[in-house]
Amino acid sequence: MLEKIVKTADFLRSRGFSNPDAGIVLGTGLGGLTTEIENQVEIAYRDIPDFPLSTVQGHAGKLIFGDFGGKKVVAMKGRFHYYEGYGSDQVTFPIRVMKELGIRALFLSNAAGGVNPSFRIGDIMIINDHICLVDNPLIGPNDDRIGPRFPDMSVPYDPSLIEKAEKAAADLGIPVTKGVYLSTTGPTFETPAEYRFFRIIGADAVGMSTVPEVITARHMNVPVFAVSIITDLGVTGKIEFTTHESVQLAAEHSEEKMTRIMKELIAAL
Ligand code: HPA
Repeated sequence: MLEKIVKTADFLRSRGFSNPDAGIVLGTGLGGLTTEIENQVEIAYRDIPDFPLSTVQGHAGKLIFGDFGGKKVVAMKGRFHYYEGYGSDQVTFPIRVMKELGIRALFLSNAAGGVNPSFRIGDIMIINDHICLVDNPLIGPNDDRIGPRFPDMSVPYDPSLIEKAEKAAADLGIPVTKGVYLSTTGPTFETPAEYRFFRIIGADAVGMSTVPEVITARHMNVPVFAVSIITDLGVTGKIEFTTHESVQLAAEHSEEKMTRIMKELIAAL
């Protein structure tokens, strides 16, 4: 796998993706951040050797390089999910390539259902822990050159980035919460009983992405910061009919606030 990672990274470097400070992954309805990346170099996933293709509406399928918050970033506008039929090695391949390009930290975002009864639609939740209910992406042979067989997961989300994000949000007057993100495979949204179950086992929000990417980044010792935008509520009495479009719309509504926080954080790297 390392050979494939190096080959793809070399290709991207030849296209101008050189020495990024940070990697960014933009979830459903959250691609607007890329309009603030200056001096952009853009490449479609279909033109990148060994990259999967983004099949989900609202996930553009482009890798973008440029300046954001005064730093060099590489941003995924659209990510890969298990429910698209990709294996975990494909879902997480771009994260490995970003590390090979030289990122010093990874910033992720997603749209998620809130199961914490105090949450409201539009809330920004800084992820401070997770529960992985999808296949672990590290199952299979381990390449010790990439990371250890048994990676520690006691500090999955970087505490200093969380602290800086809370301070930046306060300075910007943007309310944020913190909580535990639980990953399912999707593509179904949850039944009321499943939402209840996820709350009971300790989740604050549930979604179909992010955790495989976080595990892969931590395997390579890359510090991680992640946020969920709460786009619907999985709370008894507040559950409404949910569609991909309603999720996209709600995410787009909070996108700008999330972008401002991310920018401050990356500027402080
Ligand atoms: N469940 C799972 N994934 C989601 C949800 C949800 O309620 N909302 C947005 N992504």
